[in-house]
Amino acid sequence: MIKLSDIEKVYRTDKIETLALKDINIHVQKGDLLSVMGPSGCGKSTLLNIMGLLDDPSRGTVEIEGHSVQKFKDKKMASFRNHKIGFVFQSFHLINDLSVVDNVEIPLLYRRMSGSERRKRALAALEKVGLSARTKHFPSQLSGGQRQRVAIARAIVGEPEIILADEPTGNLDSNMGQEIIDILFNLNKNDHTTIVMVTHDEHIADQTGHIIRLFDGSQVN
Ligand SMILES: Nc1ncnc2c1ncn2[C@@H]1O[C@H](COP(=O)(O)OP(=O)(O)O)[C@@H](O)[C@H]1O
Ligand SMILES: [Mg+2]
Repeated sequence: MIKLSDIEKVYRTDKIETLALKDINIHVQKGDLLSVMGPSGCGKSTLLNIMGLLDDPSRGTVEIEGHSVQKFKDKKMASFRNHKIGFVFQSFHLINDLSVVDNVEIPLLYRRMSGSERRKRALAALEKVGLSARTKHFPSQLSGGQRQRVAIARAIVGEPEIILADEPTGNLDSNMGQEIIDILFNLNKNDHTTIVMVTHDEHIADQTGHIIRLFDGSQVN
């Protein structure tokens, strides 16, 4: 599904060079549920961004379903990402002046689809995360856990094969966090969505099939 080979990532600014990832080799199989752990600054978000085609590696190759994505032009890359990958972030990244259902429809705006079809799919995604009663609300009217459920609905509305979640429970208390984890795990179990999730919580990571541990940009397992 996703294959990273000999990935290295260097961030360069005027004066400083940061080696954020080195010698990363990861093969994510279809249907995998895996977590990425490690101390702050070890490269977890960088790794997820490279897996999600949001950022380029400085060296190495990224293959998704056997396609070497380096060869893609920008437009094909964006379309590929839109169809294959759903993202969930720690701070939700919702648009505050759009209603819940309008937020969830956003990924579908990039596809050729009627307004009524978009609405139907967005409402179905919201039902899946248990938010059917909040579709007309605005993000500011929701709890943190509910906001993250909207973000998950937005991530799954396009029926991606992969969900990449960067500390999805980082801003939530442990009860709400476990609710979010249960939703993600059910997507993996019932829909066979491949999930790669960054977490600081050993208890959550232990519930996943596999843990990738990073330290100073290197894999340590
Ligand atoms: N855009 C950037 N420019 C320069 N350095 C960056 C940038 N993004 C991240 N870094 C550096 O790369 C390293 C890894 O960052 P990150 O992937 O965000 O770590 P984590 O998610 O594990 O906390 C850190 O040292 C960080 O400061
Ligand atoms: Mg991070």
